[in-house]
Amino acid sequence: MSSLPSMMKAGVVRRDSSGFSFHITTVPLPQLAPTDILVRLTATGVCGTDIGLASGKLGPTHEILGHEGVGRIVALGSAVPAASSSSSSPCAPDAVAVGARVGLAWLRDACGACAFCLHPGGETRCAARRNSGRAGVGGTFAEYAVVPARYVVGVPDELGVRDDAVAPVLCGGVTAYKALRESGVAAGGWVAVSGAGGGVGAFAVQYAAAMGCRVVALDAGDAKRAYCLALGAEAYVDVADEDQDVVAAVRSVTAGAGVAAALAIAGTAKAYQAALEFLGPFGTLVCVGIPPPWETVSFHPLLFIDKGVRIVGSAVGTREDIRDALGFVARGLVKPTVLPAKLEDLPHIANTFAQVTGKYVIKFGESDSED
Ligand SMILES: NC(=O)c1ccc[n+]([C@@H]2O[C@H](COP(=O)([O-])OP(=O)(O)OC[C@H]3O[C@@H](n4cnc5c(N)ncnc54)[C@H](OP(=O)(O)O)[C@@H]3O)[C@@H](O)[C@H]2O)c1
Ligand SMILES: [Zn+2]
Ligand SMILES: [Zn+2]
Repeated sequence: MSSLPSMMKAGVVRRDSSGFSFHITTVPLPQLAPTDILVRLTATGVCGTDIGLASGKLGPTHEILGHEGVGRIVALGSAVPAASSSSSSPCAPDAVAVGARVGLAWLRDACGACAFCLHPGGETRCAARRNSGRAGVGGTFAEYAVVPARYVVGVPDELGVRDDAVAPVLCGGVTAYKALRESGVAAGGWVAVSGAGGGVGAFAVQYAAAMGCRVVALDAGDAKRAYCLALGAEAYVDVADEDQDVVAAVRSVTAGAGVAAALAIAGTAKAYQAALEFLGPFGTLVCVGIPPPWETVSFHPLLFIDKGVRIVGSAVGTREDIRDALGFVARGLVKPTVLPAKLEDLPHIANTFAQVTGKYVIKFGESDSED
């Protein structure tokens, strides 16, 4: 610990009556508890949830947000046994070693003992879960962060994926991958992706195409059409086109049948409402996007009774899902659209977030040593 600085650079969120803004400042290094590890960040993505959290609409937060972080372990707490980092398994205990590459995702700790944790794949809903950037848990818009040694997302170097491509998969990518898995859609089936031009949605288009699905992309504005089609969508529906009936347009793309899976990734009730209507027989609506608390969705039970459709929610992904989602990137089947940035760009990123296609990835210093 003696060679570590006492202060670090961080992007902190401040709110006042006119809204929120990010400020770059120096803050003390987080305290390393005996069961924690200290990670020096090399890269972090910026997710739509960070913008939602920054606005204050999603409840209390830590002043340091961010949950798509990659870095290397630089110190172990006094109760964490030293180990080698030779394993290629991201979940292996020996990923906990100084020098090992790790990810810091939305889920930062899970108890391993509650009803959610004991359910296969249930750890992301742990009753005692701790999330990056939520109260008490510093996020990844900072040079250092602490992680409990019992919940480490290992990102082995053998994966052969650069830090700036790993980062956006840790939330955006794995969320899209898991939502598709939750939908149960088969190869050849139609998948509607609402919010397809955004950070999570662009990944959903690519994962769906890589899994052999047919994608109809929905987003606002014509500028995102070319982007979504280049990512692998077969069709694009512009929800901002007031001359167009969105539900009819999706039905038309699917020759009247409706879609087998609708991924509602845009964080608005309007996208959910439309998705319910363009689901095909026995289709599945997967809830991903988080509308503000006052926006709700309505349905008549006959929709479910007559059409046999399902609604499921999907929450990021487990460490196993992260490993699987990264595998698609390692094999070249999914290519994150990275917009390189510096921590100092965070205020600008927040102001222009809605206008860009691609994932902002902030790099810290020059320490990205992978490959
Ligand atoms: N469930 C989970 O585990 C999970 C994980 C990660 C993120 N999220 C949530 O997922 C949402 C998306 O995150 P993100 O990072 O992808 O945000 P993003 O980059 O802002 O993407 C959202 C996209 O949806 C578009 N959109 C807005 N209204 C629409 C509509 N009615 N129909 C279709 N598209 C519409 C937006 O266009 P404009 O910019 O023009 O409005 C934007 O392109 C957020 O609510 C985030 O909190 C959930
Ligand atoms: Zn996220
Ligand atoms: Zn638990």
